[in-house]
Amino acid sequence: MTQQTVLLVDDEPDILQLLEITLARMNLQTQRATSIEEAKRLLESSTPDLCLTDMKLPDGNGLTLIDHIQHRHPSVPVAMITAHGSVESAIEALKLGAFDFVTKPLALEKLRNLVGHALQIKKDTDDLTSEELIGQSELVVALRDQIRRVARSQAPIHIHGESGVGKEITARLIHSLGPRSNQPFIAVNCGAIPPELVESELFGHKKGAFTGATVDKPGLFLAASGGTLLLDEVADLPLPVQVKLLRAVQEKSVRPVGSEAEIPVDVRLLSATHKNLGQQVRAGAFRDDLYYRINVIGIHVPALRERKEDIPLLAEFLLKKLAVSHGTDKRALSEEAISLLLQYQFPGNIRELDNILARAVAMSDRAEIAASDIAFEETLTPPQTQAAAATADIGPDQRSLLEKVRGDLEGFLADTERQILEEALTKNRWNKTATAKALGITFRSLRYRLKKLGLDD
Ligand SMILES: Nc1ncnc2c1ncn2[C@@H]1O[C@H](COP(=O)(O)OP(=O)(O)OP(=O)(O)O)[C@@H](O)[C@H]1O
Ligand SMILES: [Mg+2]
Repeated sequence: MTQQTVLLVDDEPDILQLLEITLARMNLQTQRATSIEEAKRLLESSTPDLCLTDMKLPDGNGLTLIDHIQHRHPSVPVAMITAHGSVESAIEALKLGAFDFVTKPLALEKLRNLVGHALQIKKDTDDLTSEELIGQSELVVALRDQIRRVARSQAPIHIHGESGVGKEITARLIHSLGPRSNQPFIAVNCGAIPPELVESELFGHKKGAFTGATVDKPGLFLAASGGTLLLDEVADLPLPVQVKLLRAVQEKSVRPVGSEAEIPVDVRLLSATHKNLGQQVRAGAFRDDLYYRINVIGIHVPALRERKEDIPLLAEFLLKKLAVSHGTDKRALSEEAISLLLQYQFPGNIRELDNILARAVAMSDRAEIAASDIAFEETLTPPQTQAAAATADIGPDQRSLLEKVRGDLEGFLADTERQILEEALTKNRWNKTATAKALGITFRSLRYRLKKLGLDD
């Protein structure tokens, strides 16, 4: 099992430290972000197992981040830290898809329970939608073979392909099929880090190395020790950092910013980009000696339009995933919807297919998705938020029940919560999807609550 990671979003150093210590004792890795923007950037490059966010952040309200995660990274459970007594925000957070909240001052026992339950649920959910490279086209069969072969070696691998084709999935598979699978896999999006911070992100820094470096920081190479580091969008690495990276690859050691000493690291290096790295080299934007080192083996992930026969299978898989993450019933595509998809060129590849399906599911409430529910990128309006969709169509009975739940949350009374959940469950014949909908909370949030109260079977 790889160590699980918790993303902490807070701008108060004391709280961050307290959280880090508490989670470290639970054998969890932590990532910290001190603003919403920084959290969003980190989420682009790696997927934590849990996110804990404060409400008041320098660039806005933590609720914005919850909403963002719910839409962009629905597999990441998120909980909010709220000021004591601010029940309104806690409820708002739950409506937006947070699975729970903790109040400040932090009660560590409660915090530990919340984290424990959340990670357990994450694991259960992951088992349902395990990491897979779906496809039966010749191109994908060949890709899977290649992945299996390179997984055993330790050679640096460069993965190229258009955006959204599955480069990151490919990297994760290389890691998980290889001998380092129970060590960390860390993905970093080189293009998403401000150029002046890349060096310290990768190699770490000593306290006082530059303004803002208030503590020693290990860096991602060390964090990935024993495991695999994916340098995603590697073409975006600034040239001066390319020099340092070359050294790290050759010497198998890193020197943190502001430090004299080199630290040995044992990391398997994978890299990826949608750009043509050879062309970048010829244009002088990428060092040829580094290119030579990281591109020992190249893997090409084909575009979706080159393997259209995989579209129906992929769509089915993605619809199943959507149903799990949204706690709804799985939908199927009509014949017409499938032939419409087969005509499209998918410039954004599988990520785009996933987005198209997510919108189709939101637009239609029938079991079968019709061609008219499918909209391609150009003709779209922003989708409704999930919470708005969930509460829009409930009747007066359910609404008063919902009011009651909200009222009782105020006192944090587990007994009352249990009673309400039992009532709602009975009313909905123990159908969890319907119960969550009636209560105006997400399926995940309901599962979490049932587990917490011991009502899960
Ligand atoms: N063959 C596949 N089977 C199932 N899901 C896939 C497959 N390929 C890609 N996906 C899914 O499509 C999405 C995009 O994949 P991924 O992030 O790996 O692509 P990428 O090439 O790294 O994209 P980008 O260039 O935008 O970073 C992910 O949600 C991934 O799970
Ligand atoms: Mg990617």
